Amino acid sequence: MKKHIVLLPGDGIGTEVMEAAKEVLTTIADEFNHSFSYEVHDIGGVAIDFHGTPLPKQTVEACNNADAVLLGAVGGPKWDQLPSHLRPEKGLLGIRKALDLFANLRPVKSFDHLLHASPLKEELVKGSDLLIVRELTGGLYFGTPSERQQNGQSVVDTLFYTRQEIERIVDKAFQCAQTRRKHLTSVDKANVLESSKLWREIVEEKKQQYPEVTVEHLLVDAAAMKLITNPTQFDVIVTENMFGDILSDEASVLTGSLGMLPSASLREDGVGLYEPVHGSAPDIAGQGKANPIAMILSSAMMLRHSFGLDEEARLIEETVESILNAGFHTADLNMKSGQQIGTVEMTQLIVESIKTRSAAN
Ligand code: NAD
Ligand code: IPM
Ligand code: MN
Repeated sequence: MKKHIVLLPGDGIGTEVMEAAKEVLTTIADEFNHSFSYEVHDIGGVAIDFHGTPLPKQTVEACNNADAVLLGAVGGPKWDQLPSHLRPEKGLLGIRKALDLFANLRPVKSFDHLLHASPLKEELVKGSDLLIVRELTGGLYFGTPSERQQNGQSVVDTLFYTRQEIERIVDKAFQCAQTRRKHLTSVDKANVLESSKLWREIVEEKKQQYPEVTVEHLLVDAAAMKLITNPTQFDVIVTENMFGDILSDEASVLTGSLGMLPSASLREDGVGLYEPVHGSAPDIAGQGKANPIAMILSSAMMLRHSFGLDEEARLIEETVESILNAGFHTADLNMKSGQQIGTVEMTQLIVESIKTRSAAN
């Protein structure tokens, strides 16, 4: 199979974990006789530095012409004081919008060997396996440009959704639930927000079309609590942009580290951008410590969702688990035993193990 992939490493540990994902993909291509070509483009802080904008035109153009896009992370203290429209994060929001990537799939699965790395009780975390379906191109992030008013003494951000925007993400979540344990939790704040009331109405309407899926509504505050007190009650969670952002970082606690969570951001027709849930981690950037697993698992999601390469994706996922089972981990995972290693060593172990495993088949 021949595929052209655009790589957007971005800032901070984005560049370190992207290098890891590329090595893994190159190994997969060699082992399975695929031909993957890569084109690197700037986004975020690095794009501000080199092009004066967080999302250069050529980056959007390249993404539009690619078979899939991989993104590392954007942002960092260097650019924190810039006006909102020039911040690195605007580049990320811009590419999501430009490609209409409305559906952000964030799977959260606890690995048995890492149960004790979570600050939560092992017996509580064990068996948690959920998918957050986050609306990604609407809501507070994309309201009428937030602005300061009255000489900077008041501010406004707007939360706007159309019926169509809610319907398509709810459909996506029901479809995901159908392929999993068939339970959907819709998270909102319908006791306060008008947008949440419409959200809940739409979920109620849509559930008629998916009779095999059981539906539950939770208010976001209670959902945040239940996520870490009874995580195994969840299968698929569907929620609006900002709630999904917050709940997914919280859910990472189940896995032991934010450095473990991959994601896929998809358009209606399946076009996809794949990115870890974590950010550019300025506190550890440049130190060779970053956990590359979230990025590597994001590339596995790309193989599965964008290229239909299920066997290859599974090989990556199983290899990652076997390396963790063997006791190897990066510093972000608070493990009692085993061996702490850096980004490059972790990547090498995964690459070598993929080669051995595919040779054995
Ligand atoms: P962050 O996700 O970058 O880091 C939070 C904490 O988790 C830090 O202590 C960090 O060291 C740790 N961490 C995150 N990923 C890790 C990994 N792979 N391995 C080991 N440790 C890891 O969030 P933050 O510190 O709030 O934000 C830093 C910058 O990143 C900000 O500019 C923010 O806007 C940006 N950000 C970008 C994205 C993205 O590009 N998708 C996502 C979140 C935050
Ligand atoms: C994420 C990030 C982004 C978001 C920021 C960097 C704009 O936190 O991908 O989760 O909030 O969507
Ligand atoms: Mn986030």
